[in-house]
Amino acid sequence: PGGSRIAFLPGPVLLLGAPGVGKGTQAKAIMAAWGIPQISTGDILREIRNRDLQPSVIADRLLNEGKLHEDDLSRMAAGKLVSDALVNDMVAARLEEPDTVRGYILDGFPRTLVQADWLDGYLASSRDGFPVVAVSLRVNERQLLLRITGRRSCPICKRIYNVHLKPPVADTVCDFDQTVLEQRADDTEAVFAERMRAYAEQTAPVLEHYRALGRFAEVDGDATVEAVTESILAAVEHLRE
Ligand code: AP5
Ligand code: MG
Repeated sequence: PGGSRIAFLPGPVLLLGAPGVGKGTQAKAIMAAWGIPQISTGDILREIRNRDLQPSVIADRLLNEGKLHEDDLSRMAAGKLVSDALVNDMVAARLEEPDTVRGYILDGFPRTLVQADWLDGYLASSRDGFPVVAVSLRVNERQLLLRITGRRSCPICKRIYNVHLKPPVADTVCDFDQTVLEQRADDTEAVFAERMRAYAEQTAPVLEHYRALGRFAEVDGDATVEAVTESILAAVEHLRE
């Protein structure tokens, strides 16, 4: 651990799992351990949604190219997946950035078999053919609901907290920049149920896709953040042997 990890070449890593399982939390820890960026399709979509408040290069680009439809953002609010074409375009644009050369963590993508097929094709035709490895986190549904309803995040630095499980030092503000924490609009019990339904119907087959390719590991997400990070790093290092 530690020193040896920065020499490791991670390549593309997919972080999969149900809503609230800890993908964002773990992606940030992996980013620090391996020095590769987190690419979260959910975060990019929220950036697009908030383009009135903060300028967004990616939102401008997708709007100019006619690829962004208001319908997608209302689907997101309702807990349904947005169109494959939109997220595939978002990911393609992000993967062009130079910080992805040593690898990257895709957080919450691919979420459908169409997206998985698109990614397989995209990677086969670009880069040096470095295959993806997929890690799926698992947590029981009762715990997921607690994680979702208690989540708060910093709109500036994006750090993630939980009022029940991982509270900030001072009640309602970020430990690092003292910004007032926000709650996501889709973190209600009703929308969570819809997100779980989308996960079971559309994303569960994606796990089987990578399992069948033999580049898949399942990690128990119901442990401390640090212990889960260790399990993910070990699983990916093992898959890359
Ligand atoms: P997205 O933003 O990806 O949401 P999600 O998949 O529902 O996952 P979350 O972000 O809610 O959870 P997480 O796993 O990141 O958990 P976190 O680390 O925050 O997607 C949102 C929407 O965008 C979708 O519904 C869809 O509409 C659209 N979308 C996105 N990608 C798409 C795609 N590819 N295709 C189509 N549509 C797409 O942790 C949760 C909480 O738990 C936090 O409070 C945290 O502090 C706490 N916690 C984490 N780990 C631990 C731990 N070990 N112990 C205790 N607490 C913990
Ligand atoms: Mg997330």
